[in-house]
Amino acid sequence: MADTATPQPGGDIGETPQQAAQPPVFDFRKPGGAVAAPPAYELAKPVFFIGFMGAGKTSVARKLARMAGVASIDLDTYIERHCDCKISQIFEESGEAGFRAIETELLRHLAGGEPRLISCGGGAVLSQENRRIMAQHGCVVYLQVTAAEAASRISDTSTRPLFGDLAQAQRVIEERLPYYEDAADIVMDTAGRGTAPLARDLLHILKKEGILWQRR
Ligand code: S3P
Repeated sequence: MADTATPQPGGDIGETPQQAAQPPVFDFRKPGGAVAAPPAYELAKPVFFIGFMGAGKTSVARKLARMAGVASIDLDTYIERHCDCKISQIFEESGEAGFRAIETELLRHLAGGEPRLISCGGGAVLSQENRRIMAQHGCVVYLQVTAAEAASRISDTSTRPLFGDLAQAQRVIEERLPYYEDAADIVMDTAGRGTAPLARDLLHILKKEGILWQRR
């Protein structure tokens, strides 16, 4: 079920084709042209990505997963697979409360499983129980984004029932700010930054914190 470190076609925030074509973080070539095995990392505990819609939680988690060779999973995708229907349909049929109940159940399930990078929906922090689950099981990375930048990154806001227009997005971000800040162990500003540099920075931070460690 996990989105393992497989390349995704496009979709990474703020990344031009030139940036995408840049060499990877690690240069595995040994002198003489031989290629060494890429460093393999392990996660000591799950890493949860939080932040408003369009912050790049899924893109950064996927990029980091590819760089470090660890597993990543998107909670919304997991919910859609579990329920066999789209998030927008769950909102239509069960309302936000119904969606939040499923979100908590599946977050709990993923948090207790093998450590991986877990990108959460923008509203996951609203529930005290969700914040407790994240704090108990892992490390929480908050990706900051402005409403304007979020809107520019989301091509189809109809897939996000709670996005609304720019003014509403701005209002919701402000309402949620205390929850994001309360839940966060690590805060990263995504303004004007592409997926790759963010993932690279995070890799260094998680290594320093002993959350990502090199097996060999
Ligand atoms: C939501 C964000 C969405 C999704 C749902 C509700 C929110 O996830 O979980 O539409 O309340 O902010 P993304 O943040 O991945 O878009």
